[in-house]
Amino acid sequence: MECLKSTREDGDDHNNGETKSCCPSTQTSGSSQAERQNMECLKCRREDGDDHDDGKPKSFCPSARSSGSSQDRWNKCYEDGVIPWDLGQATPLVVHLVQSGSLPKGRGLVPGCGTGYDVVEMASPERYVVGLDISEKAMARSRELFSSVPNVDNFTFVAADFFNWKTTESFDFIFDYTFFCAIDPSMRSAWAKRMHELLTVDGELIILMFPVDDHSGGPPFKVSVEAYDEVLRALGFEVIKVEDNEYAVESRKGREILGRWRRTSNPSLVSE
Ligand SMILES: C[S@@+](CC[C@H](N)C(=O)[O-])C[C@H]1O[C@@H](n2cnc3c(N)ncnc32)[C@H](O)[C@@H]1O
Repeated sequence: MECLKSTREDGDDHNNGETKSCCPSTQTSGSSQAERQNMECLKCRREDGDDHDDGKPKSFCPSARSSGSSQDRWNKCYEDGVIPWDLGQATPLVVHLVQSGSLPKGRGLVPGCGTGYDVVEMASPERYVVGLDISEKAMARSRELFSSVPNVDNFTFVAADFFNWKTTESFDFIFDYTFFCAIDPSMRSAWAKRMHELLTVDGELIILMFPVDDHSGGPPFKVSVEAYDEVLRALGFEVIKVEDNEYAVESRKGREILGRWRRTSNPSLVSE
């Protein structure tokens, strides 16, 4: 059984060039395989320090910072199984939004979805969700991983660059978690413009901001409410809500903020 944090079948996590044991107890019996994967990957992540080590953020993946095309770099992370951002389960906040009925229905988009646990968690007969990622390796893996879940007809995975994706679709909501922080800060205005193009009027942009801290460099690049608000307000987005994420996983507590913005009909603010 492969650890969802590492796609290596031997269960070893080769992060930062070091071979570490990843989920040795995935081979133990007891709970279901899925439960064991989730619990044990979370356990490994805490022991590894997740994306922070001694208070300093580690790179998401060394390859994500190397040279080459963006697609090649992210593909390499998935090929090598070095995906330390991956929770191995749906984000607890997303589970809460679904269960509390506070996630819009209709059509949803998750750009930079990675493995796509959140895509599957959100998808239902009332809510069709598109998971989009530049890494075709990630998308191929996700299609396989979720090929037989009960709600398989309510979501799809698309391999494409968010900034160049050619689509005629528009969405009632878009969810961003660890995507904004993964792109170069020089792309933030383009990110906002694309969000504006892809959302319906009155559509919601739901952002789980992370990492809200003060480190330098990236990815992940540091984020702040102001950094999002600056590029979104310029396009006429209105803030609906900003609050601390009380559902953050332990290693990210205090560094996550939930923000919800509404796209208004303000085409005059969007320059071509
Ligand atoms: C840090 S990972 C986060 C993945 C996922 N959101 C999660 O939390 O597990 C960032 C993801 O963004 C994807 N990505 C980076 N640039 C992209 C782009 N221009 N278009 C679409 N996806 C992109 C990467 O392949 C990677 O899967």
